[in-house]
Amino acid sequence: MEQMRASGFPEGFLWGSASAAYQIEGGWKEGGKGMTNWDAFVRIPGKTYKATTGDVAVDHYHRYKEDIALMAEMGLKTYRFSVSWARIFPEGTGEVNEEGMAFYQDIIDECLKYSIEPMVTIYHWDLPQALVDEYRGWESPRIIDDYVQYAKTLFSRFDGKVKYWITLNEQNIFTSLGWLTAQHPPGKFDDQKMFYQVNHHAFMAHAKAVLAYRQMGGKGQIGASFAYTPSYALDCRPINAMAKANYDDLKNYWWMDVYAYGRYPVAAMTYLKKKGIAPDMADGDEEILRQAAAQITFMGVNYYQSCVCEYNPMDGATPYGTMNTTGVKGSAQELGMPGIYKNPANPYLLTTDWDWSIDPSGLQFCCREITSRYALPIVISENGLGAFDKKTEDGQIHDEYRICYLKEHIKALGEAVEEGCQVLAYCTWSFTDLLSWLNGYQKRYGFIYVDREEEEGGTLDRFRKDSFYWYKKVIETNGKVL
Ligand code: BG6
Repeated sequence: MEQMRASGFPEGFLWGSASAAYQIEGGWKEGGKGMTNWDAFVRIPGKTYKATTGDVAVDHYHRYKEDIALMAEMGLKTYRFSVSWARIFPEGTGEVNEEGMAFYQDIIDECLKYSIEPMVTIYHWDLPQALVDEYRGWESPRIIDDYVQYAKTLFSRFDGKVKYWITLNEQNIFTSLGWLTAQHPPGKFDDQKMFYQVNHHAFMAHAKAVLAYRQMGGKGQIGASFAYTPSYALDCRPINAMAKANYDDLKNYWWMDVYAYGRYPVAAMTYLKKKGIAPDMADGDEEILRQAAAQITFMGVNYYQSCVCEYNPMDGATPYGTMNTTGVKGSAQELGMPGIYKNPANPYLLTTDWDWSIDPSGLQFCCREITSRYALPIVISENGLGAFDKKTEDGQIHDEYRICYLKEHIKALGEAVEEGCQVLAYCTWSFTDLLSWLNGYQKRYGFIYVDREEEEGGTLDRFRKDSFYWYKKVIETNGKVL
């Protein structure tokens, strides 16, 4: 049922939706694109749900005009998408592949035609395989210059048209899954020293790109998108309050402090040094991180869920428990770091079929924390519900559970705005259905249903879900009708 309420959302608030190249484009061998780490990884047996790939994905590569027209029909104010590095530089460096560049220029022009603000993610996990073969990608500091060269190419080619830039998507996730749990490329398991080293390279790439943007005269908004899982202590036992503090230092502030302050949290760094797994830094790195921190203009937040922190004995939960990638509720295992914290389920919250807790207040909590700790504006660069959707015989999708999820999260975001948080944009994940990296196509997030299953062969036709019409109204009323 419609609810009319006062909305604290300011005029010009950017109601948006987001995607990522590998998850939507397909056309994996078209337009001169080079191979990526994900093109290779999905071919390793057992790595993705039912061996799904992004070879075709939802064919946005050929249907982007249709998709952007649907965004315009909905009234979207901003569209966040990522550029595939290997379409621009098939080998990671060298000559620009003009066909790949033209593809993104067309997307940007198409957005601008409908007054949709393009928000560009420079890196959303698909890395040119050539750089992996040459120097093992993010493991080498050589990636820093190559990333900056790639970012500068986008800055100069999209100059004047793109005013919102996201340097890296969820550095915390692609590095954790890549070097600790082996679930993302390069599939390394428990390589803690390299995990922190890779992160330092990613921070330096981000920082140098931010500085380059400003040196080139860029006046737009720039920041990174962080997968923020805010935490609550299980109870008021001091040992659990400390577990929360340790969790925040190691799992949240480790990234956000570097983006916003240009320094690593002291207690976490001290701990890593004692364990011998702190990253090696070059002279001058810390100064560059500090300079870049002064130049970012927002904290990007991808928010899906909160967590609970409890003290974890030395023989307790590890970071390596099974993840639910099937949608069978209850199949995820408790995670933690022995001797530090573990994340038990929150008995006060419902969960999705993939065992993600549903916590609208957590979004408000994120905004409040960022506002108090960093005094930065916020871009909610992702928020959404992955669910099983059913298309009826007459092509309708009644996803009232998604409407309910988004409605409650937007309400919580509105509260944060009314409390003084400066929120610039809210992007749902996602506009069309798309490939969920490890969970296949059955975990759907979109406002637009795409006719395909895990195996190839669907029509790939687009259908508006009920949530499409609902969000259209939210945008029309600037969040007053939810
Ligand atoms: C974020 C990513 O982690 O969450 C997206 O930026 C991803 O790329 C989204 O798809 C949802 O996660 P999942 O695992 O359900 O696809």
